[in-house]
Amino acid sequence: MVQRLIVAGNWKMHGDRAMVDAYARELAACVEGSDHAGVGVWLFPPAPYLLSLANALAEAGAKEVSVGVQNVHEAASGAFTGEMSAAMAADCGAQLVLVGHSERRTLFGESDELVAAKARAVIDAGLTPVICVGESLDERRGGEAMARVRAQLEPVLASLAAGEVERSVIAYEPVWAIGTGETATPEIAQEMHAGISEHLLARKISARPPILYGGSVKASNAEQLFAQPDIDGALVGGASLAVTDFAGIIAAAQLKQNRA
Ligand code: PGA
Repeated sequence: MVQRLIVAGNWKMHGDRAMVDAYARELAACVEGSDHAGVGVWLFPPAPYLLSLANALAEAGAKEVSVGVQNVHEAASGAFTGEMSAAMAADCGAQLVLVGHSERRTLFGESDELVAAKARAVIDAGLTPVICVGESLDERRGGEAMARVRAQLEPVLASLAAGEVERSVIAYEPVWAIGTGETATPEIAQEMHAGISEHLLARKISARPPILYGGSVKASNAEQLFAQPDIDGALVGGASLAVTDFAGIIAAAQLKQNRA
């Protein structure tokens, strides 16, 4: 069962074994005893560290923190050198998979259709996909932000049943806000999240999945973002690499949880 409020950390291609152990111990100390029940804390390390991070978190007493991978191949197995399947990620402790992150789309040429095929594969392996969508700066300036996000969602909605979409997570990450230090204002993010919700409702997704905001989320802006009614947490890149920053974002989600 996916929590309603989620703070997810995407390490991208950062970290090493020493970081994994220290991070797990520090995070366990931060979340232990802090009343964070109801807020999902998810981590996406580079795949080679998945199992050791899962083990280190369990040893440190942070069993409730879930781990996942940043990408999978859409096939279950085969001659695809350098790739891994969702089932393999599950076998190594993953519960979650990022799908269609903007870096995968722009740097590795992943199309909307490929992203949908990956979401399908993740569901088939019994894992939860975090399906990332978001417009570029040109698309925003051209007034096409919502149309672009809808176009990204369309193949996903065609390949997943309504119940499967309801069990997934969506991350709205405007490309112009990722790694740039420029966060969408809470109003812009809320407008987009509400637009995504409406689109899902129109497509008969009645229990809408959590919609996370991503793009330069920090401890200092998380509370304002989470105050918006349709923002159900954050997908955090840079600020997830230091436990104190990440813990500050978890604390902001906890505030929202306590007010609910
Ligand atoms: P950022 O990355 O927080 O460093 O902007 C977000 C993401 O890419 O998911």
